[in-house]
Amino acid sequence: MKKLLLTLLAAMCAAAGATGADRAPEIISVNTDRVSLILCVERDGRVHMRHFGGRIDDAAPLAAYSTHRRPDHGAGEEIYPAMGGRNFRLPALRATHADGDLNTELRYVSHETLPSADADVERTVVRLADPVRPLEVELLFTAYRRENVIATRSRITNRQQGPVTLHAFYSSALSLHGYGSYLLTQLRGGWADEAQIEHLPLGHGTHSISTRKLVKATHSENPAFMLSLDTDRFDEEHGEVIAGALAWSGNYRIDFSVDEYDVLTILAGANPDASEYVLDAGRTLTTPEMIYTFSDCGAGGASRNLHDWARRYGIRGGDRGHVPTLLNSWEGAYFDFDEATLRGMIDDAAAMGLEMFVLDDGWFGNKYPRNHDRAGLGDWEVNRAKLPGGIDRIASYAHRQGLKFGIWIEPEMVNPQSELAERHPEWVVRAEGREAPLIRHQWLLDLSNPEVQDFVFGVFDHTLALSKKIDYIKWDANRHAESVGSAYLPADRQSNFWVDYAEGLYRVMERIRAKYPDVLIQACSSGGGRVDYGALKYFDEVWTSDDTEALSRSRIQYGTSLFYPAAVMGAHVSASPNHQSGNVIPLKFRFDMASAGRLGMELQPRQMSDSERAFARRAIASYKEFRDLVEEGDLYRIGSPYDPSGTFGTLYVSKDKRRAVFLAYCIRYRGHTPVPQFRLRGLDDETRYTVRELNVDRPRCWFDGETLTGAYLRHEGINPPLQRLYDSAVYILEAE
Ligand code: DGJ
Repeated sequence: MKKLLLTLLAAMCAAAGATGADRAPEIISVNTDRVSLILCVERDGRVHMRHFGGRIDDAAPLAAYSTHRRPDHGAGEEIYPAMGGRNFRLPALRATHADGDLNTELRYVSHETLPSADADVERTVVRLADPVRPLEVELLFTAYRRENVIATRSRITNRQQGPVTLHAFYSSALSLHGYGSYLLTQLRGGWADEAQIEHLPLGHGTHSISTRKLVKATHSENPAFMLSLDTDRFDEEHGEVIAGALAWSGNYRIDFSVDEYDVLTILAGANPDASEYVLDAGRTLTTPEMIYTFSDCGAGGASRNLHDWARRYGIRGGDRGHVPTLLNSWEGAYFDFDEATLRGMIDDAAAMGLEMFVLDDGWFGNKYPRNHDRAGLGDWEVNRAKLPGGIDRIASYAHRQGLKFGIWIEPEMVNPQSELAERHPEWVVRAEGREAPLIRHQWLLDLSNPEVQDFVFGVFDHTLALSKKIDYIKWDANRHAESVGSAYLPADRQSNFWVDYAEGLYRVMERIRAKYPDVLIQACSSGGGRVDYGALKYFDEVWTSDDTEALSRSRIQYGTSLFYPAAVMGAHVSASPNHQSGNVIPLKFRFDMASAGRLGMELQPRQMSDSERAFARRAIASYKEFRDLVEEGDLYRIGSPYDPSGTFGTLYVSKDKRRAVFLAYCIRYRGHTPVPQFRLRGLDDETRYTVRELNVDRPRCWFDGETLTGAYLRHEGINPPLQRLYDSAVYILEAE
């Protein structure tokens, strides 16, 4: 009660400011080593955003900053614009108060630096409140000093007597001014076509990156973007770039609005479309984190900041060390296997030097056996016909052959043809009285319901109990939400479903991680449908795409690398002709492409020739030699798969710049005339590097074995013999 009175008092004082009782403007700076976010508390208690970009040590002059605009022409760039008062911009917060009032005007209450256990992390909270209707907002800024990342989120608390309906509840608002142009880079695509790059100049008006699919939410768009400032060119190396990524595995929306003042406001958060959140009296809604970085050395710098941050803070297991190379059973066996098939695959995987075997879909269901995707989903007991010895026998076999063992689950879903659907029809997401549409013959379970959360946790828990030798779980999710309705949520809270589902998932993952901190978990959602930093807090890696074809992968992995480190990017060598595209690609190219991520194989090794297996053995051994660079090194994208040259490369450099691996590819035949020349940035000019080509029988280029300085490699570069379609090369560079 005392706290409530104090808050109200503070808000009233702030409101008094609005009516004339001046307070001196105050600057709030949130800094990393090279980036500043600067706010100003104005005389009237409004909190404006003044700067996001390169670090400013002395921001005091911004207290006197004036836009020279007429003060009665709309609001300034508020740090969390609400619907109400003079704000004409899209609101970060739009609420209907308990008494029906549609307006909210947020004023400063207080701010402070919160204690942090990590000296490299500084947390600042800015408290705002509506002076008239008790609604509070806390804005939380977490500055990651060394990685130059600032994460922002809001917490909205209803102190009214009744429920407040939130129609918009974004995580953050960022306003930029003073730039002549903005080039937006976003990811678009679809199933098996994820992370395609699109660049578009932002004009006046609003452009959005959004989804309302809830699950499989990152196929067609990804909640991440880059903004190249004052340029119409996407440049890896030069210029100022802001990158953002929302940590949320649900509906998202990022709005970019350029207004008549040429101010760009970026609103990012959970998608409020058809998703009003009814916030009961006394309750708080904590919005997802929006991760921002700024680079003054192009897109490459922005990616490296995000990768560093992700490995240290943003992803589960970022510091866990090497990831096992693996054989996954899916494209090699699909649903058609028995114990002998799996033992054969395990033997072959071990012989090729792989380190884990993952049993994919098809191992469960008895009344409705999972022999195809039309039945059995939800019935998580071992199929006795296929695996009479249970999971433990096959997992133990894998361990005896020196491999770890992983297994597939899809616990959020159910086939109508399953015992689970018979037992719990009320757990299915469906609108009362309407048909529940199927996708891949399955329905979504209602994770807003705590009973379903218990069930989903139980699926994980019971699966792990099938054998003590399970080291890895592939967690799949193969449909999105449609025709939504929850039998659990009350009629007047149905629109809370979207947020409550994602939070339900996180609640389950919290429990799983508390009990199983060391099990590796892959987030798969028909491939790359759950590639976001919300999921990556709990999952160790993502299945980047169901498209395993190495040519398509060149773009998919390139696009993903803009925001997510290679350390999370599952990349498998599969059969040729490829099962998705039908394309025929040499094994070396397939390996060299998959070796730029977390290397695995996904095929039936029995269908490989002896020489192919011998090559695989060698390429896997090579990968083990440089995988630390892929997992922990700095990424330099050398050209791009979109370049008309048809050649590009990927360079990973160790933090101490003593070692690097360069993977180069030809994806377009252009006759024998042009020879690609790759200038390698990111090395140390003074250091002499010995260049050694891997995965070839004999030296095939003049610089193989040569020692070249970093300066030479940067200014002159190397010219690998990539002239035919699907030529590829891998070079190790080691300091003398
Ligand atoms: C979709 C996944 O993306 C595939 O890798 C595979 O696990 C199938 N589901 C299994 O049903």
